[in-house]
Amino acid sequence: MMTANRYWKQRVTRHVIIGTSSLLLGAVVWFLFLRRDLISRLSIASAYSAMLVTVAALLLGPWNVLRRRANPISFDLRRDLGIWAGIMAVFHTGIGLNVHLRGRPWLYFVDQHSKLRSDFFGFSNYTGAIAALLFVLLLAISNDLSLRRLGTQRWKSLQRWT
Ligand code: HEM
Repeated sequence: MMTANRYWKQRVTRHVIIGTSSLLLGAVVWFLFLRRDLISRLSIASAYSAMLVTVAALLLGPWNVLRRRANPISFDLRRDLGIWAGIMAVFHTGIGLNVHLRGRPWLYFVDQHSKLRSDFFGFSNYTGAIAALLFVLLLAISNDLSLRRLGTQRWKSLQRWT
């Protein structure tokens, strides 16, 4: 049986590895978009990092099934990847809201006459905002306390739904 000390050491090491990899992924995209300005580069770098880490977290379940390995309701590697996907997605959202219309992020959702946007720009911002809220929800329940409080079934159903 693993001691608490060893468990936390492993967990922290994994977070450092995943966190560094997320930043490295972002750095690769950053260098691909050197012609853009700083905010736009930060936005696109964090966007792709968030997306790729999300994909990695989502692939773990099917990967376990394909290898005929146990596929538990929750396991630390998937949780830790999910946490970093959430961190990068929320960071991207904060930066993304300042790429266009600088300093007036509400104009992503309403026009100058305070009317809800009904164009593709509005649509992509509404879907982005919904995705960001789902990431925040996932971040909030990615811990053992939430798993215990909600119960396995409700917790898993929330995870699958998001
Ligand atoms: C209200 C929330 C959001 C806003 C305002 C927003 C804003 C933006 C902006 C302005 C860009 C263009 C960046 C550029 O080309 O410089 C962008 C791209 C992108 N965003 Fe978001 N975003 C939001 C939420 C999200 C979330 C939650 C994700 C999930 C990971 C995401 C994933 C992406 C991706 C993958 C791209 C790159 C698309 C491409 O190749 O052009 N966004 N976002």
